[in-house]
Amino acid sequence: MKAWRVHENGEPGAVMRLETVPDPSPGPGEVLLRVLAAGVNFPDALLCRGQYQTRPPLPFTPGVELCGEVVALGEGAEEGPGRPAVGERVIGPAALPGGAFAEYAVVPAAGVLPAPAALDDAEAAALHIGYQTGWFGLHRRAALRPGETLLVHAAAGGVGSAAVQLGKAAGATVIGVVGGPGKARTARDLGADIVVDRRAEDFVAVVKEATSGRGANVVYDPVGGDAYTKSTKCVGFEGRIVVVGFAGGTVPAPALNHALVKNYSILGLHWGLYTTHDPVAVRHAHDELTHLAAEGLVKPLVSERVPLTGAADAVRRVSDGATVGRVVVIP
Ligand SMILES: NC(=O)c1ccc[n+]([C@@H]2O[C@H](COP(=O)([O-])OP(=O)(O)OC[C@H]3O[C@@H](n4cnc5c(N)ncnc54)[C@H](OP(=O)(O)O)[C@@H]3O)[C@@H](O)[C@H]2O)c1
Repeated sequence: MKAWRVHENGEPGAVMRLETVPDPSPGPGEVLLRVLAAGVNFPDALLCRGQYQTRPPLPFTPGVELCGEVVALGEGAEEGPGRPAVGERVIGPAALPGGAFAEYAVVPAAGVLPAPAALDDAEAAALHIGYQTGWFGLHRRAALRPGETLLVHAAAGGVGSAAVQLGKAAGATVIGVVGGPGKARTARDLGADIVVDRRAEDFVAVVKEATSGRGANVVYDPVGGDAYTKSTKCVGFEGRIVVVGFAGGTVPAPALNHALVKNYSILGLHWGLYTTHDPVAVRHAHDELTHLAAEGLVKPLVSERVPLTGAADAVRRVSDGATVGRVVVIP
């Protein structure tokens, strides 16, 4: 089969190579999937550079989420919680080093979930990491309530666009921060009530004005750096800041005295840990997301569908912040 592989760490455009490799076969408890669609995520670039929180052995195939058709089951795989069956359309996280930017991928049966019927292959792949992260961040970690104000950074991006839709579905007023007028249009189309172009406006002033000085109840921050630091200036009493990522490249150092005097919480979020610590909650979140998709209350924004040959360029563009929603690779 054809698969992208990384033999040494570096910039995605330089180190990702499209190669012909033997077809994988599923071991005990695993399923073999024909990849129908694979979402491009910011962490794909970090994985290529060797800067992600996990470092798969070299060579590895990037691509961390997919929608696929089950083509074979390893021993005992049909006993997995999702009880996958040959021919079924499923979604799930890929199991690196055997990632999703390939024609086939082997994943643990325990991780696969039924693909929502309301979504096509690309949308179904994109419903996974961004929306699960949004669900756990907003509901489990921050306990977002109807009527609260939610501030979302990188609101037109992959995880940000999911948080905007999930925030609206939860009855929050959503303020989205984006870089540039094109992304501002995207965030508005996604349903954000107020959109701030961070290149032209100060989001702190906008949040204060929109909340009559009270500040945002919940901040969803996949960017870090200044986005985090300035958020502490406009988070409200008993507000919750969900630390989702550092796409801006800077890991902020929080001032705990400031958290104390303003009574706000700083909540770390690593969604992947829930797949092992609480898989029942992951399945529950998937069922809720499937329901919201069926109701038309969430719909992943797939901005581009690129062929397998376009994966390395797509990873580079996502890493450069040049994309909106999800770019999806269709092998
Ligand atoms: N905690 C978790 O469990 C979890 C799960 C999934 C993803 N993440 C993290 O969430 C973040 C977003 O991932 P994603 O795949 O959805 O990517 P993405 O949001 O589609 O892309 C990153 C966005 O960050 C913004 N940005 C701000 N400064 C940037 C800079 N210097 N360089 C590049 N982008 C910059 C850009 O939006 P604007 O131009 O609009 O600002 C850009 O579009 C990543 O840090 C990822 O690691 C965390």
